[in-house]
Amino acid sequence: MIKTVSTNPYGDQKPGTSGLRKKVPAFQQKNYAENFIQSIFDSLEGFEGQTLVIGGDGRYYNREVIQKAIKMAAANGFGRVLVGRGGILSTPAASNIIRKYKAFGGIVLSASHNPGGPTEDFGIKYNVGNGGPAPEKVTDAIFARTKVIDSYKIAEVADVNLDLESSHQVENMTVTVIDPVADYAELMESLFDFAAIRKLIAGGFRVVFDAMSAVTGPYAKEIIERRLGAPKGSVMNFIPLPDFGGHHPDPNLVHARALYETMMAPHAPDFGAASDGDGDRNLIIGKGIFVTPSDSLAMLAANAHLAPGYAKGLAGIARSMPTSGAADRVAEKLGIGLYETPTGWKFFGNLLDEGLATICGEESAGTGSNHVREKDGLWAVLLWLNILAVRKESALDIARKHWATYGRNYYSRHDYEEVDTDAANGLIAALRDKLASLPGKSFGALAVANADDFSYNDPVDKSVSKNQGIRILFKGGSRVVYRLSGTGTSGATLRVYIERFEADSARHDLDTQAALGDLIAVADEIAEIKKRTGRDAPSVIT
Ligand code: G1P
Ligand code: ZN
Repeated sequence: MIKTVSTNPYGDQKPGTSGLRKKVPAFQQKNYAENFIQSIFDSLEGFEGQTLVIGGDGRYYNREVIQKAIKMAAANGFGRVLVGRGGILSTPAASNIIRKYKAFGGIVLSASHNPGGPTEDFGIKYNVGNGGPAPEKVTDAIFARTKVIDSYKIAEVADVNLDLESSHQVENMTVTVIDPVADYAELMESLFDFAAIRKLIAGGFRVVFDAMSAVTGPYAKEIIERRLGAPKGSVMNFIPLPDFGGHHPDPNLVHARALYETMMAPHAPDFGAASDGDGDRNLIIGKGIFVTPSDSLAMLAANAHLAPGYAKGLAGIARSMPTSGAADRVAEKLGIGLYETPTGWKFFGNLLDEGLATICGEESAGTGSNHVREKDGLWAVLLWLNILAVRKESALDIARKHWATYGRNYYSRHDYEEVDTDAANGLIAALRDKLASLPGKSFGALAVANADDFSYNDPVDKSVSKNQGIRILFKGGSRVVYRLSGTGTSGATLRVYIERFEADSARHDLDTQAALGDLIAVADEIAEIKKRTGRDAPSVIT
């Protein structure tokens, strides 16, 4: 039986760049998740009888919302739901399933790298038929709908058993519980030279992958241990837990510290990597070297042709504006396009769909390609392994040679988390007011060449996205960027991105924070970070 439940609108359910993110107790309010899911369906047209993909990163409340989504999809007229066994689908795997099975779209349940648990974060995101995050016009429509929604439809049926791969009938809809890993593993095998990587590993090359008790565990076990032959134990923390073992499933140098220390120790393995809560981010650490995501994008782009899936070369490279300019130098040398987009993976969708870009990346540990429409953590790890297997050099040697060829972009991001919202907004507003007066001014040896608030003109759909981050460009190519996070769930997060280009290879082994010291001081001077936030130091430095 299909029931229509009347309800009240909330109006605060603004889906940001990564869907709707709130604490679990917010989602547990009566009708809250249902209202949001119905608002998604009400904003779509033509899904009658079509396929919907549903899955999540296994965090707390995942299974409950999946059951609601299945029953609501049936009541709203979808023809089929494909759901990952155990409610599991990594974000890139969900993107692949949507594309491969020509689904109408998908609901991905995750709060990415944020902690999970009864009082931690949860999220609902809608992906469209190309497998990518819903574009702004769709998320705007969803938001508008949440303000007026007054009822939702749900099938009154028993829960579906998510732990058995089988098909069920829910009203007029079929629900098929699928293996969450198989299609993804097959896709990776089609892109990379598994035989070469197997040979490398069989020859004693040691890989460690930390799944951070999050969604990539089953994927990495299957691919790295079973298919590529890495010894058992190479994949750590491989069981997805609802609270990620109490950890923060964010593969950065703070939350993946143990892995970093392992990789810097005297008898370190050859290659270390990690991925986040929902499997779209990556951390790459070679023996004795942390590869920054911006550098990783540039190095992967420069070497991608060594993997079978990219043997024909790249059409173009896209990076988010705050990501360092290292990739620009590779694009220039390859004679291909370089696209600079606002923060958020959704801006790459059109470039990938139109074949303008093949590889994309963000400084926030997201790298990916046209194989899906999300960033993909394990993909980046496997491309690195493929390159290492073909070049037969260490990651450190590859990085050094890369810098010698292209120069090095020293780069760091300073995050000030849970800052007072008014203080953060005030800081950005004051910067905006100051922009016109900055060019020509000098701060010590640093002279401002240009200052603006980044605006993006999408070359495909011609849409314009304004106010995407304050950029201060100095003579010589150094740069400071300021923007407020769109994904935090409490207070505001101020992100400051600092970059300096160094052509001289005699100066490629400096400590990053030291190399950026004068810029860091100027970044504070211009924006009055300490004064306005009351913080002496960033909460996180990456
Ligand atoms: C952050 C990252 C951004 C990424 C997004 C979703 O967004 O900075 O690159 O696309 O998470 O993973 P922010 O919190 O900065 O808005
Ligand atoms: Zn993520």
